[in-house]
Order: sequence, then C-alpha cells, then structure tokens
Amino acid sequence: MKCRSLLPVNAASTSSAGDRLRAALGVLEPVLDIVNARVEQAAPPAWCERRGWAEFLLSLSDAVLFACEAHGLELGLRGVTNAPRELLALAESVRVATTLPRLRARAVELPQAALLGVSARKREQLGAVLALASPLAAQAARVVDVGAGSGHLARLCAEFFQRETLALELKRSVTASFPSGSITAQEAIDGEPLTLGLLPV
Ligand SMILES: C[S@@+](CC[C@H](N)C(=O)[O-])C[C@H]1O[C@@H](n2cnc3c(N)ncnc32)[C@H](O)[C@@H]1O
Repeated sequence: MKCRSLLPVNAASTSSAGDRLRAALGVLEPVLDIVNARVEQAAPPAWCERRGWAEFLLSLSDAVLFACEAHGLELGLRGVTNAPRELLALAESVRVATTLPRLRARAVELPQAALLGVSARKREQLGAVLALASPLAAQAARVVDVGAGSGHLARLCAEFFQRETLALELKRSVTASFPSGSITAQEAIDGEPLTLGLLPV
C-alpha cells in the first residue's frame, strides 16, 4: 500500500482547504477497501489478509484495543513492538490528514422545539457548529449542508440564521424525518443518487 505524499503536521494552519482535502483523499483512496468492508464476521477480512496484518491484529490485547479506540491507532499502538510498518504509516497519515485546528466559540442557545430526539452530546456539537458558522452565515444568501443526515443541523441553520437551506443526503432512509414543509427531490450528482431537501425558513 502506498500513501501519497502528505502535508506536514502543521499544514492545517498554512495550506488551502483544497490542498488539505486532496491530502486527505490521498490517504483515503488506497485504503477504500478497508473502509468499504466492515468486519462483521470472526474470520479476518480479505483486506487484512492481503496486507499480512491478521496475525498481528488478532494478537492485540483488550487493553491495546481500548487504547486504540479511545486515542486513535497511532497512540494506541505506541509501545507495541511488532506492529507492521505499513499499519503504523497509515495511522500517522490518518492523524496528519484529519487533525483540525481547535476553534473557540461560545455555544449558542438552541431552540428546544428543534431538539426533540437529539442526544445531549449532539446538542452540544450543534450549538458549537452554529456558533462557528454564524459569521459565515451572516454574509451568505443560502446554507448548503452536504451529508445532512436526518437534517438536524440544516433545520437549525434555517431557523437560526433565517437563510434558505439546502440539505443534501445520500441515504433516502434518513431523509424521511426532514421537517414538514420541506421540499425534497431525488437527483443524481456525478452518478450518485442524492436526496435534496429545501428546508422551510
Ligand atoms: C454524520 S452524518 C451527518 C449528521 C448531520 N449533519 C446532522 O446534523 O444530523 C453524515 C451523513 O453524510 C451522508 N453522506 C455521506 N457521503 C455523502 C455524499 N457523498 N453526499 C451526500 N451525503 C453523504 C451519510 O449518509 C450520513 O447521513
């Protein structure tokens, strides 16, 4: 497996968003077979055997697995001596490509009516995202939420910013819960079926 050249760790603050997305794609593309084949059976999946990782991964203790889940693969495998070099390189590339700058924002108060069925953790995230998006929305004519899921963020954007909001979602099943009054349509963009929801303001 080859990981394309990556930007340095501190690149997030200096390079353009396009460069950072291209770098992330460079990490993701060679491992799409891993992303697309979830481990659902006891037998090691083909991508794991192909890379010769099965024996190593099956030998990991629960403590190391917990550490990997809690802190990411790179930190979790620190101190594990026989980790395959390719796997360590992938772990590092993923960290570099996905590390985002820490932003500070005072979370906004969200309208309770819009939050039915939303977990406490998600409410906190939504409040922070809305606060961060406020200066952008103030200058925008329309909000577009790509990967809108069931539309929580998109609905709050429409309400909170009073902007026309377009929610794009790949899976038809989740868009059934778009708020009443939404105009939804099925479209194909680059061959991918998408549900478009224009949310009421
Ligand atoms: C983490 S969820 C989004 C949660 C949502 N923003 C919210 O506030 O509830 C990510 C969503 O992106 C969708 N998605 C993934 N790839 C997509 C694509 N290429 N185009 C549109 N939606 C996509 C997934 O189906 C999933 O529902």
